[in-house]
Amino acid sequence: MRRLAAAAVLLPLVLAGCRQGMFDDAKYEPYEASTLFPDGSSARPLPAGTVARGQLGEDRALATGVGEDGRFAANPLPITRELLVRGRQRFDVFCAPCHDRVGTGNGMIVRRGYTRPPSFHDERLRLIEDGHLFDVITRGYGQMPSYASQVPRDDRWAIVAYVRALQLSQDAELAALPAEVRRVAERALAGHPRPPRRAAGPPEAGGTAPGGTVPSGGEPGARASAPVPDALHPSDPATPPAPAENGEAPRGAEDAAGAGAEPGAEGPR
Ligand code: HEC
Repeated sequence: MRRLAAAAVLLPLVLAGCRQGMFDDAKYEPYEASTLFPDGSSARPLPAGTVARGQLGEDRALATGVGEDGRFAANPLPITRELLVRGRQRFDVFCAPCHDRVGTGNGMIVRRGYTRPPSFHDERLRLIEDGHLFDVITRGYGQMPSYASQVPRDDRWAIVAYVRALQLSQDAELAALPAEVRRVAERALAGHPRPPRRAAGPPEAGGTAPGGTVPSGGEPGARASAPVPDALHPSDPATPPAPAENGEAPRGAEDAAGAGAEPGAEGPR
């Protein structure tokens, strides 16, 4: 019993001894001088690119699509032709399977039974902020999964820019077109007494592009404001109807004209 009591007294002393050893260990205190490094300081300069935890300092709008004021932001990247080309390429890979290449929401996966997304040419989505589109891609939306892990941030913004171009391609004012594209458009529209906002061609050819103000043709040199022609595919019923009745279809619309004459037909490709 006596021994036990002695142990009880001694043990804390022994443990304290251990602690003392580590306490006095050779080490630098913050900001202590050093003879080891030539600059005489124990604090070493930070390697380039070091980011302190919680201080990424990232532009919130760029990273989330929502600005510091809590509102959806405009696309923070400069809208260049390069960005749009990249956006189109990524869109065709990641979005077209559901939204189709024109954005009417009739992609192959949808045709096989997946929930049909709204058309990008709906009024609501035409008027919605860039930041919302970015947010949808980043975090998903209802039935649509997030693409943040597959599509890096800047590519997501490139896609947003391209979605805007797609929307413009179906809803442009004639007066806003470059002269030579406008000439083609006017010639194509000349044979159509219908108001320009109505799409020409069969109304439900599996996804008629709404608001076909601009004929789906266009010149090869047409700027990014009319990117749809390249996206045309004869086997894609979502292809905006070409002015097929017009004897003089604009260049680039020949394929689509074929598809328009025979809606839903599988093309040669
Ligand atoms: C697997 C199919 C699928 C893919 C791929 C897909 N989406 Fe969607 N998307 C949907 C569906 C389904 C909805 C409708 C979701 C809902 O309302 O529940 C939707 C909705 C949207 C909306 C409308 C959101 C709103 O406010 O109504 C936008 C914008 C959108 N998607 C953009 C994109 C973009 C850009 C991509 C490519 C990065 C993409 N989607 C890829 C299926 C998909």
